Amino acid sequence: VKKIEAIIRPDRVGVVRAAITEAGYSGITITEVRGHGIQKGIAQQYRGVSYTTDILPKAKLEVVVPDGSVKKLVTAIMDAARTGNIGDGKIFVSTVDEVYRVRTGESGDKAL
Ligand SMILES: Nc1ncnc2c1ncn2[C@@H]1O[C@H](COP(=O)(O)OP(=O)(O)OP(=O)(O)O)[C@@H](O)[C@H]1O
Ligand SMILES: [Mg+2]
Repeated sequence: VKKIEAIIRPDRVGVVRAAITEAGYSGITITEVRGHGIQKGIAQQYRGVSYTTDILPKAKLEVVVPDGSVKKLVTAIMDAARTGNIGDGKIFVSTVDEVYRVRTGESGDKAL
């Protein structure tokens, strides 16, 4: 079982969620987060003065899926999230040790 953690532009959440649903996955956690990547935020010009906003609002989407679904879902998320500009986001994939559905007590893939 793998967790796909995608940090994307907040205004791409709609299309990315649609792509995830389209790919056949329904469980998702969405969090409003703030952060920066290699550019450390954006350099902006305002009235001739340039300054840096060091953290920007992003959305974090977490989807936990069977191992065999990772490639398909990562591709779907990337294609939907991409604008081609810096700050498009990042995707982290990690291993999840255990999953349980509280209502039924099911575990593993069955609980996803
Ligand atoms: N190494 C990292 N560890 C944790 N979070 C990160 C890391 N890199 C990026 N992030 C998160 O992802 C968000 C988007 O990152 P961003 O797309 O700017 O990455 P980047 O590496 O700077 O690539 P780009 O050059 O396309 O901007 C950041 O605001 C931050 O929340
Ligand atoms: Mg960046």
